[in-house]
Amino acid sequence: MRLKGKTALITGAGQGLGFAFANRLADDGADIIVADIAKADAAAEQIRKRGVRAVGVSVDVSKQDEVARAVAEGLKEMGRIDILINNAAFFATMTHGPFENIGVEEWTRMMNVNVLGTYLFCRAVVPQMRKQGTGGRIINMASGTALKGVPGSLHYVTSKGAIIAFTRSLARELGKDNITVNAIAPGLTLSDGVIQRGGQNEERLGVQRRTRAIQRDEKPEDLIGAASFLASDDAAFMTGQTLAVDGGSAMI
Ligand SMILES: NC(=O)c1ccc[n+]([C@@H]2O[C@H](COP(=O)([O-])OP(=O)(O)OC[C@H]3O[C@@H](n4cnc5c(N)ncnc54)[C@H](O)[C@@H]3O)[C@@H](O)[C@H]2O)c1
Repeated sequence: MRLKGKTALITGAGQGLGFAFANRLADDGADIIVADIAKADAAAEQIRKRGVRAVGVSVDVSKQDEVARAVAEGLKEMGRIDILINNAAFFATMTHGPFENIGVEEWTRMMNVNVLGTYLFCRAVVPQMRKQGTGGRIINMASGTALKGVPGSLHYVTSKGAIIAFTRSLARELGKDNITVNAIAPGLTLSDGVIQRGGQNEERLGVQRRTRAIQRDEKPEDLIGAASFLASDDAAFMTGQTLAVDGGSAMI
């Protein structure tokens, strides 16, 4: 119960990795704010069964006014936010292919959800963390694709490269407030979004497995320990880092 008394706001926790993080942090004793464009209330209802408080707030992370309202709603319910996980992303439903075919509209949507959304949530939550005066934990979801330079989704990989740079620079700004900022870079993981899009395609998974030191598929459970650690006091002196959790594919 190392997170007892803490509240975590997790974006994109309606399903997939965000939902897995929410359940693990709940098992660690944290109360949970599920911030998602879909399924937020249903996810919160599930999480409450683990014996913590949980509330769902509906939000499009790329919309400034919606982010401000979602944080206010979450705070009204919980009274504090100690941990922010920026996990929501335009990811599973993006188009794959040559960079020339991405188009300005999809490129812009990618940056707005993945990069601007992370910025908006940090900007809305950090003043509250400062006010509480007990520090804070920000965890941003990057991707192994940005460490390795994977072709076929240039907009997505660029957005995740931005998240790694964002994490480093914001860590420098928030160290004085005792707020740590770190990132997790997963490999291809069998999340809900990936499964819904047919990502469990055996050929694709086989290619991924062969890049890994530990040659098996990655599951959401493989990532939750890293999130729990980064959210905890054990990671108090670690900031600006990107943790690759991918079975030893990217080694940084
Ligand atoms: N699964 C993987 O293979 C993998 C690998 C590397 C990184 N990641 C990253 O992990 C994170 C979670 O991915 P996942 O596989 O669980 O995806 P997922 O598609 O299963 O879940 C994403 C969640 O984000 C929400 N969301 C999407 N756009 C939103 C918006 N504009 N506002 C609010 N919520 C929004 C969705 O409703 C959904 O609940 C993402 O940041 C993704 O880039 C995933």
